[in-house]
Amino acid sequence: MAIATAFSLKLQILFIIFCCRSYFSTAFTSQDYADALEISILFFEGQRSGKLPLNQRLTWRGDSGLSDGSAYHVNLVGGYYDAGDNVKFGLPMAFTTTLLAWSVIEFGSSMQNQITNAEAAIRWSTDYLLKAATATPDTLYVQVGDPNMDHRCWERPEDMDTPRNVYKVTTQNPGSDVAAETAAALAAASIVFKESDPSYSTELLHAAMKVFNFADRYRGSYSDSLNSAVCPFYCSYSGYQDELLWGASWLHKASLNGTYLAYIQSNGHTMGSDDDDYSFSWDDKRPGTKILLSKEFLEKTTEEFQLYKSHSDNYICSLIPGTSSFQAQYTPGGLFYKATESNLQYVTSTTFLLLTYAKYLGSNGGVAKCGGSTVTAESLIAQAKKQVDYILGDNPAKMSYMVGFGNKYPQHVHHRGSSVPSIHAHPNRISCNDGFQYLYSSSPNPNVLVGAIVGGPDNRDHFADDRNSYQQSEPATYINAPFVGALAFFSAKN
Ligand SMILES: *[C@@H]1O[C@H](CO)[C@@H](O)[C@H](O)[C@H]1NC(C)=O
Repeated sequence: MAIATAFSLKLQILFIIFCCRSYFSTAFTSQDYADALEISILFFEGQRSGKLPLNQRLTWRGDSGLSDGSAYHVNLVGGYYDAGDNVKFGLPMAFTTTLLAWSVIEFGSSMQNQITNAEAAIRWSTDYLLKAATATPDTLYVQVGDPNMDHRCWERPEDMDTPRNVYKVTTQNPGSDVAAETAAALAAASIVFKESDPSYSTELLHAAMKVFNFADRYRGSYSDSLNSAVCPFYCSYSGYQDELLWGASWLHKASLNGTYLAYIQSNGHTMGSDDDDYSFSWDDKRPGTKILLSKEFLEKTTEEFQLYKSHSDNYICSLIPGTSSFQAQYTPGGLFYKATESNLQYVTSTTFLLLTYAKYLGSNGGVAKCGGSTVTAESLIAQAKKQVDYILGDNPAKMSYMVGFGNKYPQHVHHRGSSVPSIHAHPNRISCNDGFQYLYSSSPNPNVLVGAIVGGPDNRDHFADDRNSYQQSEPATYINAPFVGALAFFSAKN
């Protein structure tokens, strides 16, 4: 008995040592979050299309897509490739931009020396979106590149020779979803540049108003207008009502023009509180709109917006285990889990909303009301921190899902430019089919796509570091964009 007790005591001590050592090795400092913030923005340089500037820091990339649009007599050079391919998809590009801008609006004051890099990442996109929105009246260019042909090749962007088809939405073939998201992006960016570049800010706001008007007047989903050019890649499954309200909300915030307040008041009711399915994404803007509009009530007590406080509470409560309306799914390791494909996009977007709502609540001393109980801003921050720390390496696989962060991170990222030798190391062209040897190779990617967050582990916390498993190993601009804001928040705390 005595021996057994002594033994178990020894075990307990061992356990404490083991537990706490592993705990401390995965506890991140504010400097760690600041380092992650820096590379989370650097990643966007790897996704750049167009002529790279002299201050390009990700030097394995080269110029690409320099004649995008020219066959259509429109200049569509620039912008971002969405993920591991070489198509410029307008809907995710605009959403990425809106979320980068929102990250700066809420947490830019914590970005320190990274604020200029964050603004450059936004501007790389808004310069392109401005051209796409203003080149031709009553037309929005929404995509460059034939996605089916592009996906049949494994080529670096610098070599690509697949058709650079240009797709657009017009009065006859409308796309209220992509147009209203573009309006949201331009409006949100106009807030970012209001002080640092007022004339650019004004230009963005005017373009946003025009493209929103176009989105609202000529209604329809771009999926119906463009079919197989956008589906199943970025099909607008949720329709366009969510983007119209989201676009109006950003215009209201950016312009303070009463037109948009009236628009929100007469159209907001289409967003019931029974539609919470907790997935804020390039497709579904409802959760983000609720949180964004709740600020009007929380900070200005605008009575008309009380509705969005309760909508936001319902949404937030659905994410928090232990509340009566809890309905989200988490992995055994504690990761928010929504889908088998590119799950981390939902984790980063949800984390951003948790932190943003915590900020709005905190400025008001408020709490989220979850049935009979309440949830404080602090517990939302704690839940967000778990998700951020999981991504950075505090997880059962003990690996970081952000490339270049920590000792262990994905080596076989599903990304053409990162996996094929750099144009600078291997100047000879590598053709469509010749590139596939690099997709199937077991070697690590030769070019490190620093800062990229990949699709992430499955619902059992397992991750295959396999280039062919794109569901887990592909990065995307919209995975990183909201994480920029979340990392800024934690880099400022100690
Ligand atoms: C407000 O927005 C409407 C609709 O876009 C526009 O016609 C009007 O000129 C704007 N007003 C101001 C003061 O900017």
